[in-house]
Amino acid sequence: MEDRPITTQGLKDTHTQSDADASVLQIWGKHPLKGHVNISGAKNSALTIIAASLLCPQDCRIRNVPNLVDVKRMEQILAALGVKIEHHGNVLDINASTISHSKAPYEIVSQLRASFFIIGPLLARLGVARIPLPGGCTIGARPVDLHVRGLQAMGADVQIEHGIVHAYVTGGQRKLRGAKIYLDYPSVGATETIMMAATLAEGETTIENAAQEPEVVDLANFCQALGARIRGAGTNTITIAGVPSLHSTDYAINPDRIEAGTFLVAGAITHSEISLSPVVPEHLTAVIAKLQATGAQIITESSDCLRILPGDTIKATDIETLPYPGFPTDMQAQFMALLTLSEGNSLITETVFENRMRHVAELNRMGADIRIKGNHALVRGVSMLSGAPVVATDLRASAALVLAGLAAEGKTIIQCLHHLDRGYEHIEAKLLALGAKLERIPAVGDISGVCLTNDPVLSEKD
Ligand code: UD1
Repeated sequence: MEDRPITTQGLKDTHTQSDADASVLQIWGKHPLKGHVNISGAKNSALTIIAASLLCPQDCRIRNVPNLVDVKRMEQILAALGVKIEHHGNVLDINASTISHSKAPYEIVSQLRASFFIIGPLLARLGVARIPLPGGCTIGARPVDLHVRGLQAMGADVQIEHGIVHAYVTGGQRKLRGAKIYLDYPSVGATETIMMAATLAEGETTIENAAQEPEVVDLANFCQALGARIRGAGTNTITIAGVPSLHSTDYAINPDRIEAGTFLVAGAITHSEISLSPVVPEHLTAVIAKLQATGAQIITESSDCLRILPGDTIKATDIETLPYPGFPTDMQAQFMALLTLSEGNSLITETVFENRMRHVAELNRMGADIRIKGNHALVRGVSMLSGAPVVATDLRASAALVLAGLAAEGKTIIQCLHHLDRGYEHIEAKLLALGAKLERIPAVGDISGVCLTNDPVLSEKD
């Protein structure tokens, strides 16, 4: 692949936050769905794999990259560091042969928590990285402490001054050193940060109690395609033998298990039969088990295609979110929407993130009966939901409201669509093709104030 001009072509293809928030999504519920959905590439894999491309001084081609606001933001961060980046459809070409800045721009980092994940590759490649703390974090704050401690164990000096994390490696070669690192919690981001940093370190790094999420495995596979030496990704012990440098690759990202799970719930909540591909069924084991518990049947049509056959009724079931292979926190809101229409009571327990139940108030506005106590939600099944104006408070909350709107009597109007646009590629087109009745229209009057009251720190978990 030859040198290309610096461009972030394609950035305009996606709705901006203010465009999205000047629109609303109207959904007329109770229309049955039918047909097939194509599942996009995984957002969370794309974000870290784009960050990991900073490790490589040659061309990287990444395929199956979803066109999403979050992905565009990550591209903008790389472009601001001086990296050449071009986006054509779902293919991203990145050349990080020159990284002219080691400081990420605050304006973008503050809007995308995952952008902090560039700290590992920048440090490994340049021996220095300066990243503003993701919005709202305080010194030693929980959300990045495991990343920071891992990098310190590898010999980095990490200081937090004026809201900026300054990380640097001293010594002639400015190289990180392999280390044995135990994570107090199997954090996905910390596992990824340490794994990326360790690819170019001197010696071997072991991560104990590592996250086992499919996106960690996707990142490890990408790094291995670049020439990194990684063993054990997908288990709780990952070993990385540092190599002196990495090389060019062409890599396709896995399908998005959370988008797939969301469409399976769309089938269940509307009592519709739909199929989806490509998917990796093993990535959806916990989601499939819980859908079966609610009475749906999930058929594996082929190694990468699933079909949902809905039950006559939705049965209640309890759910507890856990690190993979447990039930994913990123599917909690969507299942809560489903269980509002179940026969019986369900207890939903959120153990991964604090403050991830802001969709409850909106679902209750649609006639659901949900009570929160601490990190538990008691969902008492009701016989129907009714369409209402509602506000999306985070990405998966917005998906839950779309699902509730598809099943509700009458019209649901969802505001603050920038959350939805962060994580679902072409969601309206995909739902319309299945027979849903919905449209995005300009909001009447100025509703930007409604969305501004959404605290980005509370709302952005994934
Ligand atoms: C990733 C996913 C997100 C998913 C989450 C859990 C991306 C971009 N996002 O987020 O969609 O919901 O995994 O599956 O991949 N924590 C700490 N200290 C740290 C890091 C995390 O205490 O240094 C805590 C967090 O506050 C949270 C929990 O650990 O309560 C899980 O966070 P983590 O697994 O790191 O999630 P992310 O990588 O941020």
